[in-house]
Parts: sequence; structure tokens; C-alpha cells
Amino acid sequence: MGNRNPLIAGNWKMNKTGPESVATAKTIATLASNSPAEIEIMIAPTFTALALVAEVISSSRIFLSAQNLYWEEKGAYTGEISADMLLAAGCSHVIIGHSERRLYFGETDNTINKKIKTAINAKLIPVFCIGESEEDRESGKTFSVLDKQVKKGLEGFSSTALATLIIAYEPVWAIGTGKTASKDQAQEVHLYLRNLIDKLLGNTLANSIRILYGGSVKPDNIKELMAMPDIDGALVGGASLDPETFGKLFNYLK
Ligand code: PGA
Repeated sequence: MGNRNPLIAGNWKMNKTGPESVATAKTIATLASNSPAEIEIMIAPTFTALALVAEVISSSRIFLSAQNLYWEEKGAYTGEISADMLLAAGCSHVIIGHSERRLYFGETDNTINKKIKTAINAKLIPVFCIGESEEDRESGKTFSVLDKQVKKGLEGFSSTALATLIIAYEPVWAIGTGKTASKDQAQEVHLYLRNLIDKLLGNTLANSIRILYGGSVKPDNIKELMAMPDIDGALVGGASLDPETFGKLFNYLK
């Protein structure tokens, strides 16, 4: 087994202005100072709040993530944001390929692959999101859909290049719906994914890669999810917006 410290990650999506993000981050930083050190904490505010939040959490152990990036280095790409800009704003991580990006903003396995490449080259840690839709699951396509997302998303990488990669499995039908995959459903997929990484990229990466679960994670289900052997953390939307609730998530062992 690799060294897979649990990671509890909050994705604030398009919520909270700069000042609101600062206030939330301050409370989270206080709560984090009394939480178990082996549990990593990450927050992903919106772009305009990144640099402000970076200052607030600079002396804490909280990691700062962006929710997206563009793959080109710089230039005439109105409205986009580069890896260097994220680094300069204080990010260490970046969420890539969230299902909302795939669904509403036309992201494909191919564009996601380019984004992962850009993040890795810039030494940003990618949080690579995958997940099946309700329709996929009902028609028995869960594993073939995930297979394709992983193979295409990670095409062309060596296992060494992917050493920092984090995968987030988020069944689309469980995001923001209140429906959570049961701990056994989630574990089944996480084990499948770990075996897939083993097959594609070898045993060392398969044992060390962290696979987070996402989709309606709440204080009342986090403990049972985290107890599963192949679940290494959670990517949390709704329940990460309130700092006290998010604090309960990274204090799930208490
Ligand atoms: P949720 O979102 O926790 O609100 O279901 C999860 C996510 O989209 O990362």
C-alpha cells in the first residue's frame, strides 16, 4: 500500500465573492489548526478569490486549488486562465474535467488530457474528475464510460509523470442531488479504478494514487465512505460552503 494520506477537498464552484471566500477561509483555517495533521485539506474558491484566500491560509496547512485552467501558456484566449496565473495566485492544485465543465462548457476527454498535461508541466497537482451519468449506470455502462474517461484523459503519460495525480470519482447522478453512492457502490468503482491504473500504468502508481469520492458527501456519510479501503478522500461541493460543516468533514475521525 502506498502512502495515501486522506484528502478532504472543497469545491466552492460559482459561489462566494472574494470577501465571502476570505471570511469562509478564515474560519476553515482556524478549524484546521485543531484537526488531525495526517488529513489533508484543500479548498477551491472561484478565480477572483484565489489570491485573497491564498493570503488568509498562507500560514495554515490548507492547500489552494483552482477549479479549471486553460492548456495554452499565454496569448489571445479571452476569458481563459493559465497555469502560471494560478501558480502566481498561490495555487498548488487544480480541478480538471469536473462533470459540470464537461456538461455545460463542452470539455471533452481530449481537452481534459491537454489540461492535465499543462498542469503537470507547471507542477500543479491535477484533481482529475471522472464519473458516469444516471443513464450510463442504468444501462450498465458505468465501467466502460469510466474506462474511456481514464484511458483518454491519461493518454500519453508515463506513471512517473502522473506521480502527483489525484483522481476524483464523482457519479454525475450523485452531484448536488442528495443521492450518494452507497459505500459499497463507491468502493466497487474505486477498486475497479485502482485495478485499471494498475493495468495501464503499473502497480506502484496504482498503490500510491489517491482516488477521492464526490457526490453529496455530508458529515453523516463521510465516515463510512472513508472507512472503505480504496476511498482516499472526498471532493465536496454543497457541504463545503459552510465552514463549520466542512470542518466536520475534515474532522471525520473525531
Ligand atoms: P456535491 O458536489 O457535494 O454538492 O454533490 C460534489 C462536486 O461536484 O464536486
